[in-house]
Amino acid sequence: MKTGRPASILSLLAILLFPGTALAQTDPGVRTGAINGQAGATPTNPLPLASVAANSPTGSLEFFQNGLARFEEVEVVSGGSNNGLGPRFNFNQCSGCHSQPTIGGTSPPANPEFTVIANGIASVTVEMEGARPCTPDEIKDPNRKQPCFFEQNLSFESPHIVVLDNNLYHQYAVLPRLYDWSKRGPQTFSVLIPQELMPGTITAEAIGSAKLDGKSYEGFRVNTTDLEVDLYLDSAHRLMRLEVPAAKVSVIRD
Ligand code: HEC
Repeated sequence: MKTGRPASILSLLAILLFPGTALAQTDPGVRTGAINGQAGATPTNPLPLASVAANSPTGSLEFFQNGLARFEEVEVVSGGSNNGLGPRFNFNQCSGCHSQPTIGGTSPPANPEFTVIANGIASVTVEMEGARPCTPDEIKDPNRKQPCFFEQNLSFESPHIVVLDNNLYHQYAVLPRLYDWSKRGPQTFSVLIPQELMPGTITAEAIGSAKLDGKSYEGFRVNTTDLEVDLYLDSAHRLMRLEVPAAKVSVIRD
């Protein structure tokens, strides 16, 4: 039957296309109205279902409240009342992640894991194996020859930390991305310099259009306590050229 073929292909196409339209999804955005449809619920105070609130069946309210309290407990590694955080640590509290629109819900829009150092939930200690602790004089001496380790407490004032290592210029491309171009003016960022294991701050500022070697750029000045680094961006704020005037360094994107 030669004529049967096109018809069956057409009906197959119809079957394939139709569910596609039926399943098309749209994002309804943030849900409006009372949290979980319960007038008294707040972001930090979820309410049980009406039957549980009425303690029906008996014990269900206690079960809910017990679980809610455990869900909000802050866990520590050791020496506290809720010990148990280990090397697979991802957070210290169930409700730290399950917080939207109220405790027990889903994750917040900004991942809370990125704030654990800034909020003092976790800290970093680096020790060099086989080395002995530095003496106070060695800590002060930048030219010390003997390997020794010192403990460095890394704490930052903002949840975003820019990693800017010595002599790794492409990392500066992140700064114009973090910079608030609608505000402009000098803006301060927390930075970590891994090779020196030093936390610090830098100031970045858009300085308007800049010409260099006959090319036009958007100028962007970065100042650390002891160094000025000039970035030259294209109109989309991509890093095209970097200059360290004091070191007479030019890094140019081809
Ligand atoms: C680091 C963030 C984070 C922490 C902390 C966390 N969760 Fe979750 N949880 C999630 C994410 C993300 C999902 C969704 C995972 C998926 O669907 O693949 C999830 C899913 C769940 C689910 C399944 C929910 C469903 O509707 O299917 C339960 C139950 C749950 N978590 C309980 C807990 C409990 C209990 C704790 C504390 C011991 C906890 N979570 C801590 C992020 C977290």
